[in-house]
Amino acid sequence: MMSDISVPVITVDGPSGSGKGTISQAVARELGFHFLDSGALYRVLALAARQRGIALDDEAALAELAAGLDIRFPADGEGDSVLLDGREVGGEIRTEAAGAGASKVAALPAVRAALLQRQRDFRQPPGLVADGRDMGTVVFPDADAKFFLTASAEERARRRYKQLKEKGKEAPYEAILADIQARDERDASRAVAPLKPAEDAEIIDTTSLDIPTTVSRVLAAIKNRLNP
Ligand code: C5P
Repeated sequence: MMSDISVPVITVDGPSGSGKGTISQAVARELGFHFLDSGALYRVLALAARQRGIALDDEAALAELAAGLDIRFPADGEGDSVLLDGREVGGEIRTEAAGAGASKVAALPAVRAALLQRQRDFRQPPGLVADGRDMGTVVFPDADAKFFLTASAEERARRRYKQLKEKGKEAPYEAILADIQARDERDASRAVAPLKPAEDAEIIDTTSLDIPTTVSRVLAAIKNRLNP
């Protein structure tokens, strides 16, 4: 399917634990827009590579796999369902190990290139909210409104700890914090599409903001941009 550049796009980028997943899903729901969880593409790719015995640094094989991957998001932002080859992998891709694998394959330029058009294809009427690291900088540089959410590493580790505990998957706080710091470092220092705010992004520090407050702020900024 062709992407249509007249369709509005809102980009929400930031590090893991900044709240961007929850916030962007809520914003998509509020606007009645489609939702792209771009991180899930990298997570599914890492999982598919593991299943096929492809090493996470085999750039050519991973790019080929990425180009042909059968991945679908039947929930479109209403929940975590993700299908790989028609099989539900929504739970499996949201573990710490899958996140680390995603971050490795995401550092490879050919992999990012293979996923570029696929991400743009999610731009369908009436609009799209795209969640990731490079949505505003690389994938949708012409987005109608761009946001970059941040929070301190400690606060992000606390949120992740709580989230895991709620799912009955406990992990030590120190290990989560170390993992977040390692992933931040890798995401910010990689050569292609490093994690950084787009020049025209509104930066929101969510360390001491709750979810409803952040959602309202984002929605107010979008209304200003879409109907100035
Ligand atoms: O957002 P999420 O935590 O699911 O992303 C997992 C990993 O995928 C990130 O740590 C990052 O390395 C990579 N990623 C990326 N570009 C995106 C989305 C995710 O490099 N647009």
